Amino acid sequence: MTKNKTNLEDIVSLAKRRGFIYQGSEVYGGISGFYDFGPFGVSLKRNITNLWWRMFVDGRDDVFGIDAAIIMNPKVWKASGHVDTFTDPLVECNNCNSRFRADKIDISKCPNCSKLGTFGKAKMFNMMFKTNVGPIDSEDSIAYLRPETAQGIFTNYKNIVDTIYPDMPFGVAQIGKAFRNEISPRDFIFRVRELEQMEIEYFVHPDDWEKSFEKWRADIYEWFRALGLDEARIHELDVPESDRAHYSKRTIDFEYDFPIGKEELMGLAYRTDFDLLNIQKATGKSMEYIQKGSNNKFVPHVIEPSFGVERVMMAVLAEAYTEDEINGEKRIFLKLPTELAPVKFCVSPLLKNKPELVKKAREIYTILQKKYHNVMWDDNGNIGKRYRRQDEIGTPKCVVIDFDTLTDGTVTVRDRDTTKQKRLAVKDL
Ligand code: GLY
Repeated sequence: MTKNKTNLEDIVSLAKRRGFIYQGSEVYGGISGFYDFGPFGVSLKRNITNLWWRMFVDGRDDVFGIDAAIIMNPKVWKASGHVDTFTDPLVECNNCNSRFRADKIDISKCPNCSKLGTFGKAKMFNMMFKTNVGPIDSEDSIAYLRPETAQGIFTNYKNIVDTIYPDMPFGVAQIGKAFRNEISPRDFIFRVRELEQMEIEYFVHPDDWEKSFEKWRADIYEWFRALGLDEARIHELDVPESDRAHYSKRTIDFEYDFPIGKEELMGLAYRTDFDLLNIQKATGKSMEYIQKGSNNKFVPHVIEPSFGVERVMMAVLAEAYTEDEINGEKRIFLKLPTELAPVKFCVSPLLKNKPELVKKAREIYTILQKKYHNVMWDDNGNIGKRYRRQDEIGTPKCVVIDFDTLTDGTVTVRDRDTTKQKRLAVKDL
């Protein structure tokens, strides 16, 4: 394992200090397993989801996007197997009543009160969040917050086939929220109760599943490269049958050396025709695809690359977090790929109290802002403090307007990674 150089505490602290990630409902004491994204966090998250969409949807002619409702007909979750099997084993201490995931602790001793032998038999706990639809709170109105975005894709498979007439193989992609009532949320944004998924269900002829699986397995590395992740920190785990989800005949977990250890970053699963056959059985509607130019009919099999946005964010932050020393002082900076950086340029007047510098800097800020959008104005504190702040946000370039700008039209451009400065004409920025 290539141990990640970054500590989780350093990421949590930077994420809070610089407005990336806050604990959910923090002002009320928080709520376990929920996080809020601040101004730079939301930008980083959007940059990640936009990059994913560009790579896997807009950048291909065989993948189509959808955006399905979070709450679906509860029959979906019965047919998909989630009502019966989307469970984790739960144990309760009969001394202090704390509850734990049985497979994550040593059940001979309570991790909370340290009493020995207090746990009874594990019960299976369903992780779907329940709610009621409409004004009547009864068994008949129960619905679930979706635990995976995938079912929004499967339930629209027929709509896509009937309206888009795609050639086989083809994929349907979705980015959206999913909810899991985890018994023990943990490790910052790694295991949370409200998450965002980026999923593709790729429909293939049953004979072609292995070929498609291998193609996706290779394509996924392009994504890791775009995120700036060191491939030496990525490991594939061929998940044994006993650990696979109920719908999968083969799964590869792509693990990353997170600061918390080697853990799953994303999964690639062969879901067979499990989901489409379940829909066919539950609804009586045919899920067969008719091969173009022939009468050949079949229910497609499915390859599913499934990505969690929060885990990607955590990996990207861990990879980008860097410390060095400048003039004997420790410096922290985020070495983010430019495409992911929440701010592309920061623009500052050298001195805040010189109106002629502020005016010129505002003009340059407006020009860059129109062109690059994610441009930040920063005139707080002295220039050294601004550089440190922008380094921690991961801003690749800081542009400073000084007295020379007024005479020769050049500005200083400082590079985040080298801290070197260059003078450039405004028109050359
Ligand atoms: N759709 C797969 C998962 O949510 O893990």
